[in-house]
Amino acid sequence: MAAFKTLDAADVKGKRVLVRADLNVPMKDGIVTDATRIERFAPTVQDLVKRGAKVIVLSHFDRPKGKRVPSMSLAPLAPALSKAIGQDVRFADDCIGPQAILVIEKLNDGDVALLENLRYHAGEEANDPAFVKELAALGDIYVNDAFSAAHRAHASTEGLAHLLPAYAGRQMQAELEALSAALDNPKKPVAAIVGGAKISTKLDVLNHLIERVDVLIVGGAMANTFLFAQGVAVGKSLCERDLADTARAIMKKAQEKGCEIVLPSDAVVADGLKEGVEASFCKITAVPDDKMILDIGAATAWSLDGKLAKCKTLLWNGPLGAFEIKPFDAGTVHVAQTAARLTKAGQLTSVAGGGDTVAALNAAGVADDFTYVSTAGGAFLEWMEGKTLPGVAALMKD
Ligand code: 3PG
Repeated sequence: MAAFKTLDAADVKGKRVLVRADLNVPMKDGIVTDATRIERFAPTVQDLVKRGAKVIVLSHFDRPKGKRVPSMSLAPLAPALSKAIGQDVRFADDCIGPQAILVIEKLNDGDVALLENLRYHAGEEANDPAFVKELAALGDIYVNDAFSAAHRAHASTEGLAHLLPAYAGRQMQAELEALSAALDNPKKPVAAIVGGAKISTKLDVLNHLIERVDVLIVGGAMANTFLFAQGVAVGKSLCERDLADTARAIMKKAQEKGCEIVLPSDAVVADGLKEGVEASFCKITAVPDDKMILDIGAATAWSLDGKLAKCKTLLWNGPLGAFEIKPFDAGTVHVAQTAARLTKAGQLTSVAGGGDTVAALNAAGVADDFTYVSTAGGAFLEWMEGKTLPGVAALMKD
């Protein structure tokens, strides 16, 4: 079976190791506002440093589309990375050519350099063979530690793996092992929570999951479309009425596959999604015409506790309500705390990922209690859709 090589199999002493990171982190005015991705990447660098490699970090930042856009420079990331790994990080003003070569030539074993934004060159996103060759000439070994960019078939995420001996970094390894434990090879029964605003953006996710999980809990405004498709009046709630047939087809397929779809039985409703608005509970069959569903109700939250207690694996993507505005975070927080408690008790393997999900788990104060929380957004979704990620595929060797 195809498998990836981990850093344990790499002889890195005295070698120039090109490490693809994802330093595409939230920043404001040149300051990193969330260093999670940097902190998760640090162990890979520290491991290579300890073993005497010359570590050359590659990354993209934002989408400069082949141009030098000063506000998208990786320069501010050098001190941030330096802080995370506890040693100096040199910075090269370009990721190829004389600037990069000069900095790399001066590296001693155990030194670390960060090269400028890969996407300043159009060849990166085009996976241009000439650009891949220029990058490959800078190193002896390639390590990919950027799962969150693995859905891109770019020069540094895919092309390099074909020109240099290729290994998964520690974060990539942890990510692939956690995802495999959640879907490829899970302890059963398996539950998935899929939330978010629209089913139109998650049709492939839903269709893939109903083939693989035993219980599919649908939350967020997505649930309204399923409820509407069952004939439930959802008032002023967000709802993709034109997708009622699609929702019915998903529910039918789920039934055929033996996957239980769980929808809210009650809701928290209000006039609209705004701070300080008056909220009330109602049964899902009694949503007033002039109200919006903004969270799952207490009865639903309690019943989800029971469902999760019977499962051994949980995969979570998307909040259950409009969690960014209180009190509509309560359902997501309650269920997140239940999942965290079951995980801590050793009863549940819990894996979560995707933009809003991580923010919701952080807000609930339980991200550290989950078995694994992915920092990937688009890559996590594509993996949940069952797609092959080019950056991962390129690491797989027979
Ligand atoms: C991300 O933040 O999801 C990754 O860094 C990928 O970024 P991209 O969507 O610009 O390719």
